[in-house]
Amino acid sequence: MNSLGTLFRLEIFGESHGPAVGVLIDGCPAGLPLAVADFEPDLARRRAGAAGTTPRREADIPEVVSGLFEGHTTGTPLLILFRNEDTRPGDYGLFRRMPRPGHADLSGAIRYGGWNDPRGSGHFSGRVTAGLVAAGVVAKKLLPGVGFSTRVLEAGGLTDVEAALREAAEAGDSVGGLVELRVAGLRPGLGEPFFGSVEGLLAQAFFAVPGVRGVEFGDGFAAARMRGSAHNDPIVSRDGRTSRNGAGGLNGGITNGNELVCRVAVKPPSSIARSQTTYDFRADAEGSLAIGGRHDACIALRAAVALEAAAAVVLADLALMAETHAFAPARKEQP
Ligand SMILES: Cc1cc2nc3c(=O)[nH]c(=O)nc-3n(C[C@H](O)[C@H](O)[C@H](O)COP(=O)(O)O)c2cc1C
Repeated sequence: MNSLGTLFRLEIFGESHGPAVGVLIDGCPAGLPLAVADFEPDLARRRAGAAGTTPRREADIPEVVSGLFEGHTTGTPLLILFRNEDTRPGDYGLFRRMPRPGHADLSGAIRYGGWNDPRGSGHFSGRVTAGLVAAGVVAKKLLPGVGFSTRVLEAGGLTDVEAALREAAEAGDSVGGLVELRVAGLRPGLGEPFFGSVEGLLAQAFFAVPGVRGVEFGDGFAAARMRGSAHNDPIVSRDGRTSRNGAGGLNGGITNGNELVCRVAVKPPSSIARSQTTYDFRADAEGSLAIGGRHDACIALRAAVALEAAAAVVLADLALMAETHAFAPARKEQP
């Protein structure tokens, strides 16, 4: 099934050039103050307009259709939608016949037997992350005292993101990017060993964001080249604070009270101005595809806030679960 979460459970819906996109959240506790204005800061971070983003312009005004009364959540399903306004479905007809290399045109058509909406990538579009970002805004309200900081560390291998975008634009190409997320103020003890590990749940949510290709926590892949003496984080206080954070705030799949640190690799978008080889299903032969329409040159720029939202949703769900598993008082005797 295409849903995420256990107690704070969501489904995102819609197609890029259909009537709307949005999110349905089930299990949101009642009584949370929520206003349309609360969504704007995070939606603004996802909105296109800056260099390297698509020329498509959407106002992204959230409509809360269910689950809100007199400025507070009701505890019943919360449905938030965004109407699509700046649509140009005609830009995409060709991709049925000649699927874009690296995009979901072909795999989506196979999965749904050709019944999927291909306009603007349909349900596979980055536009669908608007609903995820909205869910993140609600989730953050369930995490008082928790601070998120998310930034694009590099694009196309350069820390000078603007230069990378310029070079890619000159070449009619796109670039990948590396996003770092830091979450401070998380209580220790969230998560489960093995299948419910915080890393596992976060990775599942991150990979929901189209274009994500990898994730690492703390030292991540660099840990494979380290010695234990360098990688182990010295514990320097009773509350488990460590003097370095190679674990990225997680041990045994469980938050250890230090900052959660992870990096997410986002690929370059497949829609590029340069011609690419793909299969022409009408000609039944290889063909050359030149992609028009409006596209992002670097997904990481707009995906960063969606990744932050994905993390918030997972952590809010874990925080709600932690309330239910605190059934026994902690042992009092000293070790
Ligand atoms: C915010 C956002 C914007 C995106 N914009 C584009 C785009 O303009 N052109 C494109 O080819 N892919 C874009 N993508 C990526 C595609 O949606 C994605 O590559 C495609 O659905 C296939 O999924 P996969 O890359 O995870 O395999 C975007 C993704 C996100 C999160």
